[in-house]
Amino acid sequence: MKEKIGKVFKERFGEGGAIYASAGRINLIGEHTDYNDGFVFPGAIDKVIMAEIKPNGMEKVRVFSIDIDEYTEFGLKEEDAPHASWARYIFGICREIQKRGGEVKGFDAVFAGNVPLGAGLSSSAALESCFAFALNDLFNGNRIDKFELAKIGQSTEHNYCGVNCGIMDQFASVFGRKGNLIRLDCRSMEYEYFPFDPKDYRLVLVDSRVKHELADSPYNKRRASCERVAKALGLPSLRDADMEALDRIKGDITAEDYFRAKFVIEEKQRVLDVCEALNRGDYPTVGKKMYETHRGLSKDYEVSCEELDFLNDEAARIGVTGSRIMGGGFGGCTINLVKNDLHDRFVKEITEAFEKKYGHEPKIYDVVISDGARKLD
Ligand code: GLA
Repeated sequence: MKEKIGKVFKERFGEGGAIYASAGRINLIGEHTDYNDGFVFPGAIDKVIMAEIKPNGMEKVRVFSIDIDEYTEFGLKEEDAPHASWARYIFGICREIQKRGGEVKGFDAVFAGNVPLGAGLSSSAALESCFAFALNDLFNGNRIDKFELAKIGQSTEHNYCGVNCGIMDQFASVFGRKGNLIRLDCRSMEYEYFPFDPKDYRLVLVDSRVKHELADSPYNKRRASCERVAKALGLPSLRDADMEALDRIKGDITAEDYFRAKFVIEEKQRVLDVCEALNRGDYPTVGKKMYETHRGLSKDYEVSCEELDFLNDEAARIGVTGSRIMGGGFGGCTINLVKNDLHDRFVKEITEAFEKKYGHEPKIYDVVISDGARKLD
């Protein structure tokens, strides 16, 4: 990928620039908890967006996407926003850095990636973090701290891409560390690295290849439900809510909002339970919690779809230790905790069963927990 990018950069812009990369992410457990000030448990993966970037001495950005095979250029003022959705991520990063008093000047860039799009692996966060990290290095002497880089990515989603997301994806993409998951408290922003290298198990993603679109989507509605319930409870967020309090106000809120909040309350506890179980090496409990999360996401939070429920049922039938929808939902992947000796049978059987039912094979990815945003040599 690096060589390809270098070649295209040279053809389009001449003398090469610096090369940066950032990663997609998985999340072991803690879904839709980030924007409720709860806990999440993600890690960066070995699938990246990579960009070669060089200041061009102009007042504009010229950028080429190898994968989409599109070129665009834009200025750095608010009214210069490009139309192409992929370019809006980059424009958003430039603007959000500027809004915070940081420096961004014109640059040329060529980028490519292997984070599958729309699979729930946060290709957009990888793109945002790659550029945020690079522009911090190139124009700001790395003065912007890593949390701020993650927030710059998140604000880009809010202000330029129409997704009211939490901080998890950008955090994981910036802070990811090889071989480690990271438990993040989204209220205090305290985080802890957890070495994750189970001897007898593997994490396997099964991508339904059903595409999800978070912009203008039910994602923002889920967030609004949570905020309404928090308000009805007189709390800043659902972080401090418990089932007793929720049951007390049951008559004042809609049944839908009730079930959304119930899921979040249960899910934030599951993250803590999973961390404890991991500390004991108790993978069956980790797996059980993953299945519980899937049920909650499917029945109470209603962000699943037929294909993902099918993948989950099949995983259970085959005897997989843990399985659930990963990421925002509405398509994309399931994440599966699979015993080593079941791995090959699982991949074979789930692929065949899915293809038989839906007419296309799912994609299978073995997860490798890797580093987040970085400059390459
Ligand atoms: C998307 C969002 C994240 C998070 C997850 C669900 O990936 O970008 O902030 O809310 O959905 O856990």
